Amino acid sequence: MKPRAGDVHLQWPGKKVRRPPEGVRFAVRLTEQGSSGSPGRLIAGDNLLVMAGLLDEGYAGRFTLIYLDPPYGTDSEFSLRRQGAAEVAYQDAWGEGGLRSYLGAIYRRLGLLRQLLAAEGTLYVHLDRRTCHYVQVLLDEVFGRECCQNVIVWRREVARGRKTSARYFGNNVEYLLCYTKSPRGGIWNPVKGEKVISREEAERRYRRDERGYFSTSHRGTYSDAALLNLAKEGRIHVTRGGEIRVEDGRLSTTRGTIRIKYYLEPRGEGFVKRYAVDNLWDDIRGIAEAGRERCGYPTQKPERLLERIIEASSRPGDLVGDFYAGSGTTGVVAARLGRPWVMADESSAAVAVCQSRLRQHGIPFTLEVARRLRRGRGGYTDGESCR
Ligand SMILES: C[S@@+](CC[C@H](N)C(=O)[O-])C[C@H]1O[C@@H](n2cnc3c(N)ncnc32)[C@H](O)[C@@H]1O
Repeated sequence: MKPRAGDVHLQWPGKKVRRPPEGVRFAVRLTEQGSSGSPGRLIAGDNLLVMAGLLDEGYAGRFTLIYLDPPYGTDSEFSLRRQGAAEVAYQDAWGEGGLRSYLGAIYRRLGLLRQLLAAEGTLYVHLDRRTCHYVQVLLDEVFGRECCQNVIVWRREVARGRKTSARYFGNNVEYLLCYTKSPRGGIWNPVKGEKVISREEAERRYRRDERGYFSTSHRGTYSDAALLNLAKEGRIHVTRGGEIRVEDGRLSTTRGTIRIKYYLEPRGEGFVKRYAVDNLWDDIRGIAEAGRERCGYPTQKPERLLERIIEASSRPGDLVGDFYAGSGTTGVVAARLGRPWVMADESSAAVAVCQSRLRQHGIPFTLEVARRLRRGRGGYTDGESCR
């Protein structure tokens, strides 16, 4: 993005746009056939190299969706148990540089991410309260403020145990910053939520007519013509016992006001209420409550979360990327939803967990290692692993 008058940017000593690494190649280590679909790419290595290598391979503009779940700047080390022993999963400590080093690392990657995104592409960056606001300012700088479509609040848990009596309000939410490459937006498939309610609750809280239980809402921005169509479908309710009148295509009532009916759908013994999902996501449980889905990787995200993101912002066949893959949730869900995928992680523990999870699900993949070739007089020579 070219800077414009009135823009506000975040500055720190040493902040600069650097050239991406050159001479990155991928070496295939193994290919797993899986049980269905075409293979995804799991790449071991620093995502800066991986993204530069993908751009070299011609991946610019090919990703419809990129989900990023980077370290949150917690200044800690995350570990897991594998084969009975404790192992470091990844470091989220930034040394003396602290927040500057953290933001520098993120900033260096944002330009590459933007290049990888398709014109109709969407980027989700998952963070918590510690760094979300800083990264949003960086995203505004690189993508443009008008490309920020949502700041989503995800309630990952409800306070339990000691948290219920802690000082200050419980920190139980995380944030997803949603930016599109174009200010006009990207691929968007509206997402509906569902709430199941009992017959007793329906009886208590809803109106009823011959067709079933319903709630009503104001006509909002519906035109008269649209309301006439809804009237034909029996979806108009007039308050105070009034009736609809139509004169010269214009709608009025004998008395009362026009409201639109929303019927509950019967399901089993109860009823389903559908609603448009907004930017407060409190219907997806955190991984602590995900049961069999848990694979032991610290900071693993629930599959339902990725399902919502992937279904909302891509179509079957669209390429999905995740360059902080961790346990590989994105690849598992993308494959299930019929989207090809590329994932990267620099941690050997993460790559091992990803592999076994992909195998367990019968998902075909290639495991590749990002290598940076040394620059010599005669060009690039001698493979040097980035790990
Ligand atoms: C919060 S975890 C991701 C968890 C993941 N969403 C899941 O569901 O399991 C962050 C991951 O980013 C990886 N990571 C951190 N810096 C990286 C870098 N520069 N390149 C590649 N991976 C990186 C870490 O190894 C860690 O696995």
